[in-house]
Amino acid sequence: MKYWGILILLSAHIAMAQTVVPLFRDNSLTTYVTMPFRLKAANGSAIPILSIEVLSSKDHCQAMIDPMISANFLVKCTKTDSLRIAVYYKNSDGSVSRINYGPVTVAKISASEEVLTPVVDNSQKYKAGKDLFASTCMGCHQSPQDKPNRSVSQIKSAIAGITRMKSIKLTDTQVKSISDYLNNLD
Ligand code: HEC
Repeated sequence: MKYWGILILLSAHIAMAQTVVPLFRDNSLTTYVTMPFRLKAANGSAIPILSIEVLSSKDHCQAMIDPMISANFLVKCTKTDSLRIAVYYKNSDGSVSRINYGPVTVAKISASEEVLTPVVDNSQKYKAGKDLFASTCMGCHQSPQDKPNRSVSQIKSAIAGITRMKSIKLTDTQVKSISDYLNNLD
């Protein structure tokens, strides 16, 4: 009879088991790809992470808790590795537990998948020119796509030469920012 207690304890423990689940694409771990993981309870709910620690080669794998979702953590490796990670979380009674993830193999990124350089957000860089184009030019030219890649001198000679544009008053800096914008349309 006394074994029942142990069995119940054991099954309660299993029912509460926490797991680390990879959240990306085909679950293959590759270098140079930021790989998101989630700490989950057996019932599927996400568990906030207290801290994480890379146990394998720390110098080429980095891990951080996702700043947006506290149950997720992100790992990026620059070299192939056998990744092991310790994840710490708080139990409902306030005690801290640790779960180990791995070892899992981080493979080399395949040659066909180039490492993408981050897309540069030009929306702020050319905002002055964009705003000027909207306020000064769009009354007649419906879209910046009607006048792409126009240089400063093309705009200046249009203002000087085209009757309908003669009333436009812009400083050199303003013409330059419109031209920069027209030369950097998405
Ligand atoms: C009052 C109307 C009007 C406004 C405002 C106006 N344009 Fe024009 N623009 C014209 C007309 C008309 C032409 C000649 C027909 C054409 O090319 O679209 C022209 C021609 C041009 C040309 C020479 C032709 C070409 O395609 O290279 C450029 C460059 C130009 N506009 C740029 C601008 C820019 C930049 C602004 C804002 C600073 C502006 N325009 C504002 C009416 C206007």
